[in-house]
Amino acid sequence: MFITLEGIEGSGKTTALPRLVNFLEGGGLACKVTREPGGTPFGRRLRSILLDPESGNIDSTAELLLYCADRVQHVRTVIQPALDAGQTVVCDRYVDATLAYQGGARGLGMDLIRAMHRLALPPLMPDVTFLFDLDPRIGLARAWAAVEDGQRHRRESRFEAEALAFHEKVRDNYLALARAEIERFVIIDASVAPDDVIQQLIDAIGPRLSTSSAGRLA
Ligand code: TMP
Repeated sequence: MFITLEGIEGSGKTTALPRLVNFLEGGGLACKVTREPGGTPFGRRLRSILLDPESGNIDSTAELLLYCADRVQHVRTVIQPALDAGQTVVCDRYVDATLAYQGGARGLGMDLIRAMHRLALPPLMPDVTFLFDLDPRIGLARAWAAVEDGQRHRRESRFEAEALAFHEKVRDNYLALARAEIERFVIIDASVAPDDVIQQLIDAIGPRLSTSSAGRLA
């Protein structure tokens, strides 16, 4: 089973992820936890370029190509092999992030993103995508607080530094993607306390696991 977590900056997905994995492993599933960008050694180098404010204004198409390079390496060397070995892959961001950020907020369009993926990658989509949804004003406040108190490195704040309108576009695009694929997406109310967020994840994943080929929870 292939599970992805998506959302704007400060939506809490990265905090919730280990608790979701605990729940899955407690039910007997072997999990491969990974993320984009940065799920491979090559990807970690790309991540430091993509997220560092010192990279400045990267041309949107150049930015897209780097995210795609990260993904091609990641799918071929990490995600697909883990799925082939019967593991449950839990990935912090995947193709929906490229659709929402580069396709939507940067304005490159969904068709270009989809065409590039068709060219470069096998048609691998997640079985379940959790969209952590919240008001970008709250998300950005949380994200900057994490930078201020050292939980997130300032060298990874290039997207946090984008205007509120950019993050509103990202959110709207994510919600549009979720509405277009209601079977795959689960929208999580990320404005509530962490325990309530994790409860929403567990409530949604439980029934899906019992019907998945990945196995059953005890
Ligand atoms: P994160 O690891 O903290 O989620 O940060 C990754 C950043 O990269 C986040 O701002 C979203 C952005 N991003 C894109 O713009 N396009 C993509 O395809 C991916 C995977 C991430």
